[in-house]
Amino acid sequence: MDPSEIWLRRWHDVRPGATSRAFLRGKPSTYEWLADHARPGDRVLDLACGDGALLSLLRSYGIQSAVGIDMSEGELAAARARLGQEAILVQGRAQALPFEDSSFDLVTCHLALMLMRPVEEVLAEVRRVLRPGGTFAAVVGGRIAAPTEDAWTMLVRRLREEPFEGPSIGDPRTYGEEGLRELLQPFVNVRIEPIHVDLSGTPDEVLALFRETYDVTRMVPARVSVLEEALRADWQALLRPDGMLPCSMGVRRITAATEAFR
Ligand SMILES: C[S@@+](CC[C@H](N)C(=O)[O-])C[C@H]1O[C@@H](n2cnc3c(N)ncnc32)[C@H](O)[C@@H]1O
Repeated sequence: MDPSEIWLRRWHDVRPGATSRAFLRGKPSTYEWLADHARPGDRVLDLACGDGALLSLLRSYGIQSAVGIDMSEGELAAARARLGQEAILVQGRAQALPFEDSSFDLVTCHLALMLMRPVEEVLAEVRRVLRPGGTFAAVVGGRIAAPTEDAWTMLVRRLREEPFEGPSIGDPRTYGEEGLRELLQPFVNVRIEPIHVDLSGTPDEVLALFRETYDVTRMVPARVSVLEEALRADWQALLRPDGMLPCSMGVRRITAATEAFR
């Protein structure tokens, strides 16, 4: 198994729900965008379901047959607490899905595909478990230029100067549209759209996001405090009269289908 997978699993075991804490308040909602692909009666797999934020939304949309899979027991325990005993939650790796061929009409994946290696194995598994003519809908983090300078661009600039220890994560081809199109070649009707998710908040709220990024958790606490002070100073010029900081994160929304006949 790739060392980054072991690192990621431990990370999520001790910090379940970090992604939903940030993105449930994002505008537009990337969870809603994914849930909107489900039709009544669809069998849905939420790949790398984390603490079950998307599964909960699917349930509120009346989707009865949704399954979540994640490799992190910590995330799955949080999902169980959110969704209750009746939820179908499976521990497993996206590279080896424990499901029959053609078991799902829709596979969703929120902010996880860019962490997975080898990503080709994951996409082959997604194709295998989707029925012919099924849909894969994913939201993927990546390198997307921000339209204007905001709290997040300043934060990324500061982080670039920091040395990090530990394994590299994911496949860099998922960070850009060209690489994604190459990886998604076995699918049809591929659509990729960059968007910016508004995560504006008070400086404390934005710092809470910062503290739960993979990079920051690899830094020594004293260094994090120094960086936070520097960021608070950087952000003074951006603060709105209502005390809020503009902050957005670029992601790509992807839809792809399996061929109707195979
Ligand atoms: C950034 S979190 C996103 C969680 C959830 N989709 C959400 O957006 O709220 C990434 C999730 O992917 C899971 N994950 C990463 N690589 C995985 C793999 N190869 N197989 C299964 N789960 C994986 C992690 O355990 C973690 O829960």
